Amino acid sequence: MPTTLEAKTPRIVTALPGPNAKRVLEQDAKFMSPSYTRDYPLVAKRGHGAIVEDVDGNAFLDFAAGIAVCSTGHCHPKVVAAIQKQAAELIHMSGTDFYYESMPQLAERLGRTMPGAESKKVFFTNSGTEAIEGAIKLARYATKRDKLIAFYGCFHGRSMGALSLTASKSTQRKGFGALLSGIEHIPYPYAYRCAHGHTEETCGAEILEQLEAQIFKRLFDPEDVAGIIIEPIQGEGGYVPAPKFFLQELQRICRQHGIMFIVDEVQSGMGRTGKWWASEHAGIEPDILCSAKGIASGMPLGAMVAKESVMRWKPGSHGTTFGGNPVCIAAALATMDLIESEYMENARRMGDYLFGRMADWTKNFKIVGDVRGRGLMIGIEIVRDQRTKEKAADLRNVIVDLAFHKGLLVLGAGENTIRLSPPLLIDREQADFAVRTLEDCFREAGKKA
Ligand SMILES: Cc1ncc(COP(=O)(O)O)c(C=O)c1O
Repeated sequence: MPTTLEAKTPRIVTALPGPNAKRVLEQDAKFMSPSYTRDYPLVAKRGHGAIVEDVDGNAFLDFAAGIAVCSTGHCHPKVVAAIQKQAAELIHMSGTDFYYESMPQLAERLGRTMPGAESKKVFFTNSGTEAIEGAIKLARYATKRDKLIAFYGCFHGRSMGALSLTASKSTQRKGFGALLSGIEHIPYPYAYRCAHGHTEETCGAEILEQLEAQIFKRLFDPEDVAGIIIEPIQGEGGYVPAPKFFLQELQRICRQHGIMFIVDEVQSGMGRTGKWWASEHAGIEPDILCSAKGIASGMPLGAMVAKESVMRWKPGSHGTTFGGNPVCIAAALATMDLIESEYMENARRMGDYLFGRMADWTKNFKIVGDVRGRGLMIGIEIVRDQRTKEKAADLRNVIVDLAFHKGLLVLGAGENTIRLSPPLLIDREQADFAVRTLEDCFREAGKKA
């Protein structure tokens, strides 16, 4: 009999939350900021691969991966060994003031994965938000312009700069006063809800028209626009992929006007879609690309990668105390080895497998409106009625909670979408378990519809 963590699938042994979990929840309610958004009471203790064990000995199959972070699974032995070795040698020195070998090593490797022939330079951060913050500054610095264009539904972070680009949920902005000026948001090409009835290939043509014929004519002269920033697959906003043509056209518009084409791959990057970057599926070459989440298997690291011709700011113009910490870099190098050698290909293969298993869901379950995404970045949109596409946020929440009680960890995204973002190492048995469990949840939730 395998131990709980060695098992491939869940084992629930107490009511949820169990007695130890309840104790932690009480402490948490007393001492933690109430701004966190916990959907269900998982109190994690240990993890291995795609399995997480809670404080009461319940084992869950993790299809959330700490918001798409634990790319190589929980505590991969090679990542753990790299962290331990580095921690025993040097924990911190600050790459802003000193040098260490692994920093340019990782930068070179990351730069080589980014599309485009020109060589790249990298600024390391502690988070996705900081990578975005750096991208805003670099775009302004490099172009000597200040206007920015972003998309409704996109999430880029919560610091005042990144939040000014974020247009996901109004609660994320409410109460925080004035944000950066000179930022305009335009609709994201959301094929399932395309206002013009287009398909997944063609949705968004009118948005580009609006950008050129309205925004550039009536609001911002394109010569004043520093950057256009987009998630190639919207994450927080509901796992919505932008059509290939749309991203290519956006790049063309940027090039035409000398605007920085900034691609936020914080959630969609690092092999999750079966390629290093979702940008590669569209054949685009960003001027600036932001990464974080899966880059270091759970250690706090982000990266802003830019073309060499773009990242030409002067010493002192940008810096960080912790960003690119040696322990995080060691974890990232081990993570890249694993993604390159097996997990990127596994993400592609298991993504195809899961999409195959879910192909009939919209036929079989009337509350499933849409199944979309790429690789192991999969969104399932829950609706009250497939014809009207009425969003069923309540049913989505019921499904997420039911899945937890059956031992499957998933997260919501957008108003009414379930996101699947498992570690990139899942196998068929785990994919099958997730499919069967979600089908059971749809049946049960469907009765409440
Ligand atoms: C696309 C995207 N950009 C930026 C961020 C912000 O990253 P972080 O939470 O690491 O600051 C996120 C986080 O969810 C994200 O999904």
